[in-house]
Amino acid sequence: MVTRTLLLLPGDGIGPEAMAEVRKLIAVLNDTQSAGFTVQEGLVGGAAYDAHGQAISDEDMEKALAADAVLFGAVGGPKWDGVAYEVRPEAGLLRLRKEMELFANLRPAICYPALAASSSLKQEVVEGLDILIVRELTGGVYFGEPKEIIDLGNGQKRGIDTQVYDTFEIERISGVAFELARTRANKVCSMEKHNVMKSGVLWKEVVAATHKANYADVELTHMLADAGGMQLVRWPKQFDVIVTDNLFGDMLSDVAAMLTGSLGMLPSASLGAPDPMSGARKALYEPVHGSAPDIAGKGLANPIAMIASFAMCLRYSFNMVAEADRLEAAIAGVLDDGMRTADIMSDGMTQLSTAEMGDAITAKYLTLSA
Ligand code: IPM
Ligand code: MG
Repeated sequence: MVTRTLLLLPGDGIGPEAMAEVRKLIAVLNDTQSAGFTVQEGLVGGAAYDAHGQAISDEDMEKALAADAVLFGAVGGPKWDGVAYEVRPEAGLLRLRKEMELFANLRPAICYPALAASSSLKQEVVEGLDILIVRELTGGVYFGEPKEIIDLGNGQKRGIDTQVYDTFEIERISGVAFELARTRANKVCSMEKHNVMKSGVLWKEVVAATHKANYADVELTHMLADAGGMQLVRWPKQFDVIVTDNLFGDMLSDVAAMLTGSLGMLPSASLGAPDPMSGARKALYEPVHGSAPDIAGKGLANPIAMIASFAMCLRYSFNMVAEADRLEAAIAGVLDDGMRTADIMSDGMTQLSTAEMGDAITAKYLTLSA
């Protein structure tokens, strides 16, 4: 029998509630399809800080490096506002990304037909939306050195972050974007600020060269990142794949998320390079939403982003394409049936708790499998 190893890192806030719904699906896949998932659990973020004084322990970091895939909930909350910068909850996520070398972050923004009316934009602007943001995840201003606050000695301090990209980093992330575009509408739009930033000049140059060398069949356009943000809310359906750096990708993916009706809907996959021997990629799957401490523990959280992240895990880490398709269809089906969590609730729909939504999706999955 196959064994597939998963490390679950539920984290803080609504992370554990959302992860509980994925556990149900893992059990169903094991019971009904002998999927062979073996699950380990770990702590990350504030939960890890409370237990070990670190945002992720070395032991859990080792488990993450050894697992076939990591499922991550969310980190952070006001409880840890005062902790040292090095051990703040977000440091756990950034360490996982860096040490697992997860350079490619895939953030799809799909507007489910049933939710087109709950977007803050007009229905015709978002209906049928299906875009993919490919965000560089291990470089740029998130990790560039120097990164510090220095004392200038005259009562002034200076905060410094460094935006830095090397050719190979831009080549490999644009390669991922072009490859994925070929499986979709075959269009890539690259976003940077070459009018202001040297790293933007290099970004644009390297994306264009990568395109010319290996992907000339894909349609490539370039946009300044600020204009890209504007176009995303003006007419998002003009885009297929967007490739961009770490910081712009962070912002643009939150914008794209809201197009779909709620931040509670968006999954993501963070992938490393394929292993030269096995072809397997290190991978971490997480919802785009945060820990939402204000609603944690109340059964109000939307587990769909977490469940859709598990669907991406089935697709990208385990090549379980039929199961991933079915799980995504189960999510769409439950929404079509009028089931909603609080964040996407509208008139005439049925409001479910986090666990009830997880149960409904699990039941729908089983019906679709029969
Ligand atoms: C995200 C988050 C993270 C980021 C935080 C939690 C460090 O906003 O995954 O988009 O900035 O990358
Ligand atoms: Mg973000």
